[in-house]
Amino acid sequence: MRAATLVDKRKIELKEIEETTAKSGEVLIHVLKSGICGSDLHAFEMGQPSGVILGHEFCGTVLDPGNRTDLKEGDMVTALPISPCGHCPACTSGNPQYCKETWKEAVGLSLSHPGGLTNKISVREDMVIKVPENVLPEEMAMVEPTAVALHGVHLADIKLGQKVLVIGGGIIGLISAMLAKKEGASFVAVSETNPYRGEKALSLGVADKYYDATKEDMMVEVMKDTGSGFDVVIECCGNANAVTSSLLTVRPGGTVVLVGVATGPISIPTVIAVMNELTVKGAIAYTKEEFETCMQLIASKQIEVMKFVDDIISLENVQSAYERLLSGKDDAVKILVDPNK
Ligand SMILES: NC(=O)c1ccc[n+]([C@@H]2O[C@H](COP(=O)([O-])OP(=O)(O)OC[C@H]3O[C@@H](n4cnc5c(N)ncnc54)[C@H](O)[C@@H]3O)[C@@H](O)[C@H]2O)c1
Ligand SMILES: [Zn+2]
Ligand SMILES: [Zn+2]
Repeated sequence: MRAATLVDKRKIELKEIEETTAKSGEVLIHVLKSGICGSDLHAFEMGQPSGVILGHEFCGTVLDPGNRTDLKEGDMVTALPISPCGHCPACTSGNPQYCKETWKEAVGLSLSHPGGLTNKISVREDMVIKVPENVLPEEMAMVEPTAVALHGVHLADIKLGQKVLVIGGGIIGLISAMLAKKEGASFVAVSETNPYRGEKALSLGVADKYYDATKEDMMVEVMKDTGSGFDVVIECCGNANAVTSSLLTVRPGGTVVLVGVATGPISIPTVIAVMNELTVKGAIAYTKEEFETCMQLIASKQIEVMKFVDDIISLENVQSAYERLLSGKDDAVKILVDPNK
């Protein structure tokens, strides 16, 4: 079985690996489509964890349903890639994202469970969800990033008519902008350092305005458009400049939601949050309910996610796709991988 494996900093190699088998309590899945996520790009840049087979956003068909009597071979499924314990206070309160075990055996993020950059994966049986009729596997591979954005938008608690800025127009930022509008925001802007992605936020119709984050006068424009800053800022980059920008662009008393994952400690001027009494929240993953909501929103065409998909590539082209997504000079936002191509 072939697998695109992370072997070093910015290096993914196609390797022959042992066929994945399902442990007791797992469902064996044949991967049809798997997405490349911004978090995968962080892992790619660091070369860590070495040997990981990335791909935590996937859709496939059941090869072996294990104990899941409601599933049969050939059923199309997706899954939450996480591994919560199921019985701690976080899990029993419906917040598996807080569970200490959640990332330990996560599919496509841990060494124990290969992700969708190979043909066969095994997934915890309680995380697997049968998809509705008449959906495409590529749409269902988009459920996971959509759920990340929905969770951030829920935490942002947007009120009707508020002004929202999304920092970073990658897939998480663009879907967050789309959902912020659905939540009732009257003005949604995206700031980007990559002009191709910034323009794309406009052409895809998810933002009313795009700010060039490399321009020094961005703050002048923000104040012109908002008076004293945005009611809500959702940060979807995970670097010091972007987090600092979120503190500067939100109005006094406003809310900042940090979705971007900074992989190391970063330096930010917290005094702005103090002086302006900001509410700053982190947002990680999603609840199962949010994941299922996104699946239904996509299946019922209430939200359109295929417009964000730029390309569907083979395993041979994974290395170049990662480079393309990291280049900062390309308008590609989401690339899916078909490991059977
Ligand atoms: N919290 C979660 O549960 C969760 C889940 C998935 C992804 N993430 C994180 O969210 C972030 C976004 O994910 P993605 O897949 O959209 O990633 P991405 O890398 O495709 O997008 C990030 C975008 O931010 C832009 N950017 C960088 N610095 C900027 C700045 N100072 N101002 C404005 N724009 C800037 C980049 O040009 C890029 O387009 C990543 O950090 C990822 O790790 C978090
Ligand atoms: Zn992801
Ligand atoms: Zn738990």
